[in-house]
Amino acid sequence: MSEQNTAEAGQGILSKDQKLEQLNSKNQEALLGGGQRRIDSQHKKGKLTARERIALLIDEGTFEEIGKLVTHRSTDFGLDKEQYLGDGVVTGYGKVNGRLTYVFSQDFTVFGGSLSETHAEKICKIMDMAMKNGAPVIGLNDSGGARIQEGVVSLGGYADIFYRNTRASGVVPQLSAVMGPCAGGAVYSPAITDFIFMVENTSYMFVTGPNVVKTVTQEEVTAEELGGASTHSTKSGVTHFTSANDAKCIEDVKKLLSYIPQNCEEDAPVYDYNFGDEKRTVLNDIVPENPNQPYDMREVIEGIVDEDSFFEAHKNFAENIVVGFARIGGRSIGIVGNQPASLAGVLDIDSSVKGARFVRFCDSFNVPLLVLEDVPGFLPGTDQEWNAIITNGAKLLYAFSEATVPRVTVITRKAYGGAYDVMNSKHIGADLNFAWPTAEIAVMGAKGAAEIIFKKEIAEADSPEEKLQEKVDDYTTKFANPYRAARRGFIDEVIVPENTRKKLISAFEMLENKVDQLPKKKHGNIPL
Ligand code: HXC
Repeated sequence: MSEQNTAEAGQGILSKDQKLEQLNSKNQEALLGGGQRRIDSQHKKGKLTARERIALLIDEGTFEEIGKLVTHRSTDFGLDKEQYLGDGVVTGYGKVNGRLTYVFSQDFTVFGGSLSETHAEKICKIMDMAMKNGAPVIGLNDSGGARIQEGVVSLGGYADIFYRNTRASGVVPQLSAVMGPCAGGAVYSPAITDFIFMVENTSYMFVTGPNVVKTVTQEEVTAEELGGASTHSTKSGVTHFTSANDAKCIEDVKKLLSYIPQNCEEDAPVYDYNFGDEKRTVLNDIVPENPNQPYDMREVIEGIVDEDSFFEAHKNFAENIVVGFARIGGRSIGIVGNQPASLAGVLDIDSSVKGARFVRFCDSFNVPLLVLEDVPGFLPGTDQEWNAIITNGAKLLYAFSEATVPRVTVITRKAYGGAYDVMNSKHIGADLNFAWPTAEIAVMGAKGAAEIIFKKEIAEADSPEEKLQEKVDDYTTKFANPYRAARRGFIDEVIVPENTRKKLISAFEMLENKVDQLPKKKHGNIPL
């Protein structure tokens, strides 16, 4: 610090060349972060440095750094003697696949990437710019949390970021890649952003770490078990994507950006696409003859969308629903599909929340929605009822009902009960509903229905089993098909599976300029 002061105080007597030299040396110093020893330590853990991550994210030669010479203002605990240019975070803007993107990348080599007042100010500055100029913000998080030596000003810095995260929500996309520790209240910034990415074995997120957990609850748990990538991708659902290493994580961030617009006023980019493979006969053989046999909805998705374009989010959490981005005829869509291969595709608390969050993201950023429906209803049981399947199921219902983007549903098999209504039915504002001939649109499955409405008749029959079968067959003939719904116009067309792709390309093209507005309000009150 004192050296720096001397140099700056003596600036008046420096020649032009000396001033240039001084600038070069400051730039060099900034590049070194917390020093080579700490950079080596970062590499030894299998992690990249803040600048190496930016170099992978941002198109070569386009990164413009902002605030490279910022230093902290703390004087307590000897901090005045330890200063690093940039103060533990690299911030700026550049292009990702040719499109403007703002980025902050926390530098673990400087005070463990901890967040000081000035570190927070740098992040806030680029968030404000992103809001004004309508471009995404990518956070590359690797931080020991609030800078302990600074006390309340670093907590204030976090709050300044949370506030901006919330203000920016729905205005510009915000993606968080967690590539190291993320603990304490610091987790709430990523949590407010649209998608979280985590790196396996080197990142973790928790509100209170293993030591506090042990003190308070006597549970013994490692940081990885408590808040590692695998925990958050399977148990809590906090993270949407996990990757084997930093480079793969950044690749996924870039991939996601390719499906979405720069801000809420724009549409997602359209990719070149050569027409010619609209008929997909593979779709004819996916749904099994036996209605109780599972199949993988991902096969249906692959059969419908542009080749290799499906990018699944939240893959290992609430696997009974599948969500992700894809392209159809070169245009981005968001897909929500029930998954018969997991819990028969039933809707439960986790799948409802997972679906609802994805629907709201797509609606915020003008990404049309395709729903692929095969749902036997909501999951019964005390666990679900006591943990509020009512409130949580309502989230999905609310999210679809509120969405104004183009919305199309294809019912591949079961559309039973309340789940028929919830899964983007025309009654809640879907633009088009198609059904395959295998669709069954009914209040419930035939056996359950027959047992309830013919209970007395079956009990009094000479052969209750035969009577039950007769009633099941009768109910099946009447309702286990899409034609009653089609007669009422609830289904717009019953389509042959192989023609689904063609129908959907045409449907989304027709809906391209859809205009639909919610009634004037401050904001709705989604059942949280
Ligand atoms: C200041 C910090 C720091 C912090 C780490 N460092 N965390 N400096 N404030 N929060 C420094 C260390 O002193 C060390 O400096 C360097 O960063 C690297 O840290 P190590 O401990 O050597 O690294 P590692 O073994 O990898 O462990 C990383 C860690 C650990 C798990 C993050 O450092 C840690 O537990 N830090 C404290 C975490 C924490 O409790 N943060 C506050 C959370 S509460 P040297 O000079 O030795 O290289 C919070 C509130 C936010 O954040 C509230 C928002 C509402």
